[in-house]
Amino acid sequence: MSEHTLEVMKCTHEKQKPDPDSLVFGTVFTDHMFIMDYSEEKGWYSPRIIPYQPLTLDPASMVFHYGQTVFEGLKAYRSKEDGTIRLFRPDMNIKRLNRSSERLTIPPVDEEQLLSYLKELLIIDKKWIPEKEGTSLYIRPFIISTEPNLSVAPSQSYKLMVILSPVGAYYKEGMSPVSILVEERYTRAAPGGTGTAKTAGNYSSAYKAQERATAKQKAQVLWLDASEKKYVEEVGSMNVFFKINGEIVTPKLNDSILDGVTRNSVIQVLKDWGLTVKEQQVEIEEIFRAHRDGILEEVFGTGTAAVISPVGQLEWNDENITIHHNKTGPLAQKLYNYLTDLHVGKEEDRFGWIVEI
Ligand code: COI
Repeated sequence: MSEHTLEVMKCTHEKQKPDPDSLVFGTVFTDHMFIMDYSEEKGWYSPRIIPYQPLTLDPASMVFHYGQTVFEGLKAYRSKEDGTIRLFRPDMNIKRLNRSSERLTIPPVDEEQLLSYLKELLIIDKKWIPEKEGTSLYIRPFIISTEPNLSVAPSQSYKLMVILSPVGAYYKEGMSPVSILVEERYTRAAPGGTGTAKTAGNYSSAYKAQERATAKQKAQVLWLDASEKKYVEEVGSMNVFFKINGEIVTPKLNDSILDGVTRNSVIQVLKDWGLTVKEQQVEIEEIFRAHRDGILEEVFGTGTAAVISPVGQLEWNDENITIHHNKTGPLAQKLYNYLTDLHVGKEEDRFGWIVEI
């Protein structure tokens, strides 16, 4: 067998599936996982689907020490009509995985090949895709550096894995609005940093700010730019949109904002609905001014995990504002309905975003 042929080793004992009514995010994993290795001599080799299991790694593996790692997140859905597996724009996630890898000096993967391995894994664990409304199978591809070496330098060996997790809503609030604290001290990402890469350090370095938000009974933080603390960047781990006086505004991508797949999709859908969408620098002051002027209509985050997450309250500089009476706004709701219907096949795929298996 060639070093590039997919090997499949099925589990002998299937685990019990979770109750679809009590699914949370990311705590239950399916029967199988995908794994492949990288070495300088062989490139990516030995792709295999194996029973889900713990890893054995050298404690000197570079990922533990210097965090050379990247990940992705996408979802699989089951069509209500015929049970087909549906993926939402997986090509975008795989491309971004390579972009993140490039930033972290991790070798790229063959995008089509990775998609084909992912499809095989999903076919094998198809029964794990939950069907209840609002649930899905979250797909987590990730790469870790495995060379046992404490030198501060790129690893010469890696593992790419894909694990699958049946999930419910990401936030306990679901589609109910969340309250947000505008973070003034810490920053998520800086110009020239790793903000556009999906890498572990961007997320763990946010915990400290999250701690402050939680202490103030806020669900998430809103990140401002690192240099001036003036411009809006992201909300929690999502991109952010504002509806002001009938127009939609979202921060323009820069090298500290993640290029979200849901962000990209939402912009296209909104334009298709005839709405004006402006991608530009957004001053936090301008948002609070719009609220004072009575023209801040809606605020919502977009991301794969939550899809759309309405913001009901914002606190900045001890000023608290309430948006749309702390209720889910009509645009956020319409987008959520549209995207989630598209995911499961209740909405026609006019943009050609769905990959069926
Ligand atoms: C997403 O919105 O999909 C995220 O980035 C959250 C994820 C890291 C759990």
